[in-house]
Amino acid sequence: MSDNKVILNYDGNSYEYPIVDSTIGDRGIDISKLRDQTGLITLDLGYKNTGATLSEITYLDGDKGELFYRGYPIEQIAEKSNFTEVMYLLLHGDLPTQDQFNTFNGNIKKYNFVAEEMKKIIDAFPRSAHPMGVLSSLTSALTAFNPKAVNVNSKEEMDLAAELLIAKFAHLAAWTYRKTLGLPLNHGDNNLNYVENFYKMAFRQPNADFEINPVVVGALDKLLILHADHEQNCSTSTVRMVGSAHTGLFASVSAGISALWGPLHGGANQAVIEMLELIEKDGGDVNKWVEKAKDKNDSFRLMGFGHRVYKNFDPRAKIIKKAADDLLSALGIEDKALDIAMQLEKVALEDEYFIERKLYPNVDFYSGIIYRALGIPTEMFTVMFALGRLPGWIAQWKEMRIKGDPIGRPRQVYQGAQQRDYIDMVNR
Ligand code: CMC
Repeated sequence: MSDNKVILNYDGNSYEYPIVDSTIGDRGIDISKLRDQTGLITLDLGYKNTGATLSEITYLDGDKGELFYRGYPIEQIAEKSNFTEVMYLLLHGDLPTQDQFNTFNGNIKKYNFVAEEMKKIIDAFPRSAHPMGVLSSLTSALTAFNPKAVNVNSKEEMDLAAELLIAKFAHLAAWTYRKTLGLPLNHGDNNLNYVENFYKMAFRQPNADFEINPVVVGALDKLLILHADHEQNCSTSTVRMVGSAHTGLFASVSAGISALWGPLHGGANQAVIEMLELIEKDGGDVNKWVEKAKDKNDSFRLMGFGHRVYKNFDPRAKIIKKAADDLLSALGIEDKALDIAMQLEKVALEDEYFIERKLYPNVDFYSGIIYRALGIPTEMFTVMFALGRLPGWIAQWKEMRIKGDPIGRPRQVYQGAQQRDYIDMVNR
């Protein structure tokens, strides 16, 4: 290897592959000519070493435990910014001036309603339907009410599609929750900011006045910021992959919601609380559950622990842990689940198994405790994650389409049967 290329010696020949520079972090070997030149492809199950794109949105260093949105450290953003500003930052690349913020915020308010017909679609779901399934379906259904394909060469159309989806998504998230309780579906209130508006739409009771609790809204705002983007994770890669076929924005995001639902990804926040409740019911012996997580013959994993990229503390988990502590004391709530979570964290972080494998608490370990303190039911946790991740999905979709990434189409190493002849059923 030299500074700017990698040399591959194979089958008596030598091939050169250029190294693609980064501004910080991993550089990439451009192997796009590898197969044509050598007849070989790369095999990388789970894409552990594969860069799928060139991106300018989010950077994370898993060894140092660093996360930057458009260059700004997550700690500064979580402390000083707000979710609406973060949405603008991810979508447009820079922090907004006051005028830019007002225009963006004003546009979101302009589209702060959802067609009444959408309620009929929600009606068709049983109340027991998982909110993530409902949310994914509703997001896809939005296409029917906003049928115009986005012209990716027009900045105006791209911005409009993003603002429409952001405005309407808060309704869909709130409505999926109210559906599970059989509550009337509210429309938005333009006197409120984005997070307050969502909060009111989701939690207003039909028989009482609604008061915005700033402590609760502050905690929600922070959680949404922390979830807003995380570069090429499973759901974002799904959004980009679906969008790479020039599928529309809403349909691409709908696919991302399905990917996020899985317990190894966003669904982990629900799985963490279910795990903590199970441990509590079982007598609260955290050592027993840490042993189970280490046992290769037991399928149990410590949910909320480990991460594909972070091999150090997930910086979001640190911020969320403190926010959970602050929120519980501000609301005067004592939660046994938080005690168990802290004991689990302590035992696991001192255990050789977790140390060796560099398994630390991730973003989902403490977020469920905040959601629970806010009275949000467990099945809604991943919907909250989706609401936070939405601007990241849109920003990544937009970047992919503007840069003109080709359709995503991995190859495979085939290990199935060789060619064989069809046998009629009577002769099998
Ligand atoms: N509990 C026990 N062992 C674990 C855990 C865990 N939570 N996570 C990883 N390991 C072990 C795993 O068994 C393997 O051991 P060995 O080398 O002996 O076979 C080793 O650590 C490496 O794990 P891996 O599964 O190869 O790592 P991965 O990068 O493919 O998976 C992960 C990452 C997040 C899917 C995994 O750590 C996990 O399943 N964690 C629990 C689920 C979770 O909290 N997911 C949320 C992720 S963060 C938010 C998000 O992405 O949405």
